[in-house]
Amino acid sequence: MDTIQTQSLDPVKLDTMIGRAINDISAGYGGIMVSLGHRLGLYRALAGAGPLTAREVAQRAGCAERYVREWLNSQVAGGYVDYHAVSESYELSPEQAFVLADPDSPAFIPNAWNVPASMWADEEKAVEAFRTGRGIPWGDHDGRLFCGVAAFYRNAYRGSLVREWLPALDGVTARLAAGARVADIGCGHGHSTVLMAEAFPQSTFHGFDAHAASVAEAEKVAAAAGVAARVTFDAARADDYPAAGYDLICFFDCLHDMGDPVRAAAHAARALAPGGTVMLVEPFANDRVEDNVSPVARMYYAASTMICCAHAISERGPHVLGAQAGEARLAEIFHKAGFGHFRRALATPFNLVLEARL
Ligand SMILES: C[S@@+](CC[C@H](N)C(=O)[O-])C[C@H]1O[C@@H](n2cnc3c(N)ncnc32)[C@H](O)[C@@H]1O
Repeated sequence: MDTIQTQSLDPVKLDTMIGRAINDISAGYGGIMVSLGHRLGLYRALAGAGPLTAREVAQRAGCAERYVREWLNSQVAGGYVDYHAVSESYELSPEQAFVLADPDSPAFIPNAWNVPASMWADEEKAVEAFRTGRGIPWGDHDGRLFCGVAAFYRNAYRGSLVREWLPALDGVTARLAAGARVADIGCGHGHSTVLMAEAFPQSTFHGFDAHAASVAEAEKVAAAAGVAARVTFDAARADDYPAAGYDLICFFDCLHDMGDPVRAAAHAARALAPGGTVMLVEPFANDRVEDNVSPVARMYYAASTMICCAHAISERGPHVLGAQAGEARLAEIFHKAGFGHFRRALATPFNLVLEARL
């Protein structure tokens, strides 16, 4: 590359670009601090406690004070913990605690850092994949990917799936309340399956995923929730699970991972009971690249590059949709698979919830 002539640079644009890059690298350093704060119980030690000195936080969390003081200062620098200079004490506000200390909060963030951690760990695989064009199967990734993705989406599912997303589909909650058969395709660790099972005790639920280790984890999640009698999980691909007449077939954040999404949708068409519905939940995206310029889109395109596209390529199918497919491309997949009805039921900053019927 030719050396850039510095006199040709716009100083305002350059300052903006440098500021953005420094912010981002600072966030990267902050991510591992968030993970440590979560794993060591430091946020929990601070939550609801009022102002505490570094020594008090360290005692509550059972950690060494000198490390904790430095960690606390990093939190203050990033706006994640408040500092009272006069008393040299640290305090977690209720809003900070909602995001950092409460694992049941829909905005709980620490586990989400497992995904970029797994991506760094898998960088060599990505370098190789870019150079050869070969895929990376889902199961070949660093183990932090699976719990990171499950934990990130579980927040949204807990907050919205039963209260907002299912009611946005025509007639589906009435059918579930009366007793329905539900399939959750690409169910991962099964959090979506289990949440629906808890809410609709008359219905039975069947989770399928191509990744056997995730299926085993999903069984544990169902057993811990006490719903295992009505929830089964099996290792199966989206085009070979039993076409057993389901009233509702769900795809949560997985259709775009598949190499042949038309085939998966066509199999769902065969597996639906008369009048049944497909619920398709996908990462939020607009249809055009120029309309996907935001922190959320950046995060999804990055995950898509190393994870979603890489898995779809590994399946050697005809489509590699990517995690920012957008509604128009998804509608086309379902129309090709024989669905006559396809509509957006709702959208959130993170998800599109779509409904398809034959
Ligand atoms: C991003 S994860 C989403 C998991 C889960 N639905 C959730 O929302 O947490 C995508 C899942 O799709 C599964 N998957 C990918 N291709 C598949 C296929 N062809 N058939 C079945 N499952 C597949 C992966 O194994 C993985 O568990």
